[in-house]
Amino acid sequence: MLSNEESGAAKEFGKMAKLISSCEYTRDKEGEVGWVDVTRVGDDGHSTVDAILTKPARVAICDGSISTKPGDITMQVTERGVHLVHVVDVMVDIKRASKLFKRRRPGPPGNILELANNSEISNDSISLDNVSSRRKKYYQIDTMGCQMNQADSERIEGQLQKYNFHPFIRQITDEDIKHAKTGGERRALRRKQQEEQPDLVVLNTCSIREHSVDKFSSHLGKFAKRKRDGEDVTIIVAGCVAQQEGEELLRKIPEVDLVVGPQYSNRLGDFLEDVANGNQVVATDPAHIFEDNTKPRRASRVCAWVNIIYGCNERCTYCIVPTVRGVEQSRPYEIIKEEIDGLVKNGYKEVTLLGQNVDAYGRDMEPRRKFCDLISRITEDCPDLKRLRFVTSHPRYMSLSVVDAVADSPIACDYFHIPFQSGSNEVLANMGRGYTVKKFLSIVNRIREKIPDAAISGDAIVGFPGETEEQFQETLNLMEMVKFDTVNTAAYSPRPNTPSATWENQIAEEVKNDRLQRINKLNKQHAKERRARMLGRTVEVLVEQKNIKQLGQMTGRTTSNYIVHFAADDETLLGRFVKVKIHSTTTYALIGEVVW
Ligand code: SAH
Ligand code: SF4
Ligand code: F3S
Repeated sequence: MLSNEESGAAKEFGKMAKLISSCEYTRDKEGEVGWVDVTRVGDDGHSTVDAILTKPARVAICDGSISTKPGDITMQVTERGVHLVHVVDVMVDIKRASKLFKRRRPGPPGNILELANNSEISNDSISLDNVSSRRKKYYQIDTMGCQMNQADSERIEGQLQKYNFHPFIRQITDEDIKHAKTGGERRALRRKQQEEQPDLVVLNTCSIREHSVDKFSSHLGKFAKRKRDGEDVTIIVAGCVAQQEGEELLRKIPEVDLVVGPQYSNRLGDFLEDVANGNQVVATDPAHIFEDNTKPRRASRVCAWVNIIYGCNERCTYCIVPTVRGVEQSRPYEIIKEEIDGLVKNGYKEVTLLGQNVDAYGRDMEPRRKFCDLISRITEDCPDLKRLRFVTSHPRYMSLSVVDAVADSPIACDYFHIPFQSGSNEVLANMGRGYTVKKFLSIVNRIREKIPDAAISGDAIVGFPGETEEQFQETLNLMEMVKFDTVNTAAYSPRPNTPSATWENQIAEEVKNDRLQRINKLNKQHAKERRARMLGRTVEVLVEQKNIKQLGQMTGRTTSNYIVHFAADDETLLGRFVKVKIHSTTTYALIGEVVW
């Protein structure tokens, strides 16, 4: 474990140590800093910290790998006295957390090996160092899940680029083929397009519903076939299906080279060498989430994700997330701040704090932290950040003080995404959600009272096992009461190893589909009404990109997360705030003119 001299954490801890410590070793050094190494056999003075902390104390701190996390302050009693240890970072041998499999049948293990074999330096064992300097290699990444999945993709891309892979951009597009003048030209273009293929493919998967897994299977099938047909492509399956399936995936689809769970998104590069050496690799053991050892390749230059908590400790009876994302792991404040500072320095204007349940932030830390305090601290400590958002808020942990912290913060956006799932207390109880409709409404009321113009969105599931028509109607009633800006709706999908999948009171597909259509209709109506109220108003928009669907338009969002399109074709506007007068609306967007 490392107390990093440079970090603010160590400095604060150091000051405290200087004031209160009776330890002659550490007091004058403002707390000793360095690694605590559990693998050292004796107290042989490997580092000063190892010499001070006896072996049993080091084992107590490091053992059980996820019991002590970055951010924790733990107390250890040894014959030398009482030691306070602030954990800033944790490192384990990642190779031990992955399993290697020798290919059972010969076949191309992925082109990073072939590239190395073709090189003039012949190695029995391939090192990425000498692979990376050969011809350019291209990767493609398909991101299939939620914001957490998108943020993981950015980290995976960062890793791949560190190893000198380049993003794969098709030179011949389907549009080019469509616009070919003759049949012959079209066929030639199609042949050429076929030849352009990425060297490495990452499928970053989602398993929240059966439909998401089906989508992945069809993508994977396509690449596996190419590989069976002799094409040289490295196939990596990442994300939640990878975690769910683990080794089983290699048995089902032997063409896969690497199966890597979300907890290893930061460390994908560590496995590429094993893949290059012809192994199939599975890395899905539960682990600490490591801090970025490379920079993510962010999709936007204006808005960025910053993870604050990984995993989920809830046990909603329908949900696969806790199984695939592991237990909650909050990131230490100092590391979150460092990431935000870096973003601001690089011109980012907006940060979205990410977590399955952001408002559960800090529950797993010793001492505990609170999400509302995190909002206030970021507001105070990052004066140059323009906008702060967060998703997703769980109603169980969404305290009134979170609403107050947002209301008091000049940078926190007036937007809340709070999945309610159902408007029936019975269904909520069966789902194991841990709140009632009354509690949910108390949050909504507080928002409306403190920030009247705030937008509120949510998630809802229809056709949960046992849901009656009346209970479904209660969900619609709740929507009528709140008038959400958007609701992400879904028909209940039974997931493997979740309690409700085994219940006998499953709802027929036709009923689920019918309810889905009805809830979608109401959702659309409310979305439209909510946006219609913006007509004639002038709003502040952070310009994020060109509108890819409409030439001559640019797109951004209001602080309340409404998408706004406006006429302009000026890249210098990207990342700037403009005032837009709204003249028309669609179901989910506002359209207007810039007021210069
Ligand atoms: N942690 C968040 C939600 C994250 S999962 C929360 O609990 O509030 C995102 C959404 O997927 C959920 O809100 C839920 O609406 C939906 N979902 C999860 N499991 C599902 C399932 N088995 N069937 C249908 N929708 C599901
Ligand atoms: Fe799934 Fe519930 Fe966790 Fe949300 S809180 S991710 S719905 S288990
Ligand atoms: Fe996200 Fe899907 Fe995993 S919603 S957490 S990518 S199961």
